[in-house]
Amino acid sequence: MHQVLQSTAALLAFQVVVGDAAPTSSSSASAPGPTGTTYPSGFDMTTSWANLSPYKDAGGFGVPKGVPRGCELSQVHVLHRHAQRYPTSWLLDGGVVEDFAEKLKNYSNTHNTTVGQGPLSFLNNWEYLLGEDLLLVSGAATEATSGANIWSNYGRALYRAPAGVASWDSSLNVYPNGTDRPTPIFRTTDQARILESARWWLSGYFGNTGANSSYSQYDLVITHEGQGFNNTLAADASCVDGDLEEGDNSGKEFIPSLTKDALKRLSGSLPADFNLTAYDVVGMFSLCPYEYATYGSSSFCSLFTEQEWRDFQYFVDLQFYGNYGFGSPTGRAQGIGYVLELAARLEGKRIETSDTSINTTIDSNPATFPLHQPLYMDMSHDNIIIGVAAALGLEYFNYGPNGLPGTVDHAVDRTFKLNELTPFGAHLVSEIWTCPQDTSFDVLDETLYKNPDLSSAKDTTDYIRFVLNGAPVPQDGLDGCEDSVHGFCAVPAFLEGVPTLKVKAAYQYACFGNYTSDGQVGDGRPE
Ligand SMILES: *[C@@H]1O[C@H](CO)[C@@H](O)[C@H](O)[C@H]1NC(C)=O
Ligand SMILES: *[C@@H]1O[C@H](CO)[C@@H](O)[C@H](O)[C@H]1NC(C)=O
Ligand SMILES: *[C@@H]1O[C@H](CO)[C@@H](O)[C@H](O)[C@H]1NC(C)=O
Ligand SMILES: *[C@@H]1O[C@H](CO)[C@@H](O)[C@H](O)[C@H]1NC(C)=O
Ligand SMILES: *[C@@H]1O[C@H](CO)[C@@H](O)[C@H](O)[C@H]1NC(C)=O
Ligand SMILES: *[C@@H]1O[C@H](CO)[C@@H](O)[C@H](O)[C@H]1NC(C)=O
Ligand SMILES: *[C@@H]1O[C@H](CO)[C@@H](O)[C@H](O)[C@H]1NC(C)=O
Ligand SMILES: *[C@@H]1O[C@H](CO)[C@@H](O)[C@H](O)[C@H]1NC(C)=O
Repeated sequence: MHQVLQSTAALLAFQVVVGDAAPTSSSSASAPGPTGTTYPSGFDMTTSWANLSPYKDAGGFGVPKGVPRGCELSQVHVLHRHAQRYPTSWLLDGGVVEDFAEKLKNYSNTHNTTVGQGPLSFLNNWEYLLGEDLLLVSGAATEATSGANIWSNYGRALYRAPAGVASWDSSLNVYPNGTDRPTPIFRTTDQARILESARWWLSGYFGNTGANSSYSQYDLVITHEGQGFNNTLAADASCVDGDLEEGDNSGKEFIPSLTKDALKRLSGSLPADFNLTAYDVVGMFSLCPYEYATYGSSSFCSLFTEQEWRDFQYFVDLQFYGNYGFGSPTGRAQGIGYVLELAARLEGKRIETSDTSINTTIDSNPATFPLHQPLYMDMSHDNIIIGVAAALGLEYFNYGPNGLPGTVDHAVDRTFKLNELTPFGAHLVSEIWTCPQDTSFDVLDETLYKNPDLSSAKDTTDYIRFVLNGAPVPQDGLDGCEDSVHGFCAVPAFLEGVPTLKVKAAYQYACFGNYTSDGQVGDGRPE
């Protein structure tokens, strides 16, 4: 076994060399990794970086893509994630990375010898230069691209950009009768990377012709996120006494399986008294996506096999599933605030009282909680998207009654994969379609060329569809939407189910109650 793995490492090292020597002649079946590493199966390691994966549309979640023929796209609500950032200080994220870097530095300072050999010889010239928390320029570019995509896919149709118009123009911001609409308002939290992501996203959305600032085109509501503050876009910090740790526990349980082979293999390329640990190896895994986001490549990427990358993604999936998703006793609670805000926007009502993560000072004020906008955008975090999926009860992403298991040898088959759910720049779009009575959702067109105006048509029904990273999500498990077709649910039916979603989230009990959990749960609430 050990020998096989060593030869795998040798093979990887060999392929790096080949990749460097002949970068253009690699087989089309193999997707090159950031360092030129290729895997014979065609495996693309960037799809196994979980929430650190670069943005890519999701392949599909089991319902067809496309736009319903004859319907009007009448409203769009975008819940967006920030993009590429430096590691956070959290132990299983940046903590292990920083510890490894410091340990290596300490070792070099106290030993007059080269540290790494063979595949790790790059460590002799390596320096740790990353910071913490900040949005990177690659992240700024991801956000601007995403804003531009939302303009192209949705904004043009909603604002009925006429022929020849390339980008947003304030003259488009009018009601059907020609009267000016108020300046559009968008929302973000005040954490630096979130606020900057919002600005970059808006810059892309508004076209920013000539690269001039687009500030004058919009207002931005900046809400404070922090421990004890109510904030639907950072609701983990509102849920102060709740259990948000089951995922960390599962992730830690999985570390021996994740690192077993690599620890043996990589120890051989370091001095014996370096005492490489499992946590060091976790740090070495994470350095690959973080350095890739920072430099565009990383020597750590080629150290691991395809199976190990799949297991790395599982290690992070475990944490998110158990901290913020269906496996968390507070999963539904963390997402319910945004769901209630979505419902309030759909009903055209502001929120005056709340017993969830909503801040009623913000949601009762027209300047900070506008209604009747064609397009909303809320800039937030990956974990909020996971919490919202749980609060909606989207069964497609539910692994089962006991949560995701941490005590397994390798990643299990599952639909919950963060590279598809929350890559950098992820977005959950709630689309509202106004449809004539006889609409069949069996025929879906690829592109919405002309957005019909059905505002004065009789007998129309509004439908809501959730599209996550470009792929519609099945609504199985969503209360009220039992009759949905291809992910389209009548808005009145959705709104009827919302009170049930709120009861299931059990916000006050989950976040402030006295309960104990014995590992992950099955349905995103205390058991
Ligand atoms: C590095 O050395 C410093 C000073 O001796 C020590 O405090 C620190 O714990 C060491 N760090 C690691 C990760 O070993
Ligand atoms: C480090 O080792 C090299 C040879 O291995 C030697 O020439 C040098 O003097 C050593 N430096 C110190 C500070 O011990
Ligand atoms: C145009 O429509 C908007 C929204 O329905 C309304 O508030 C406004 O009063 C209308 N303006 C005129 C001139 O009818
Ligand atoms: C961009 O800014 C420059 C300098 O302020 C100005 O001359 C130019 O007209 C602006 N372009 C647009 C499209 O606003
Ligand atoms: C609610 O928002 C207001 C305005 O931003 C802020 O001053 C207040 O501290 C927030 N309250 C809570 C409980 O988060
Ligand atoms: C590795 O462990 C040995 C034995 O406990 C210890 O003497 C040595 O300092 C350790 N090395 C590092 C880099 O911590
Ligand atoms: C914050 O949330 C709590 C519910 O947990 C609620 O009682 C309180 O009124 C909220 N504060 C604001 C300003 O919305
Ligand atoms: C929580 O419940 C446990 C077990 O029932 C009990 O011992 C403890 O006193 C309770 N704590 C609070 C703050 O109510």
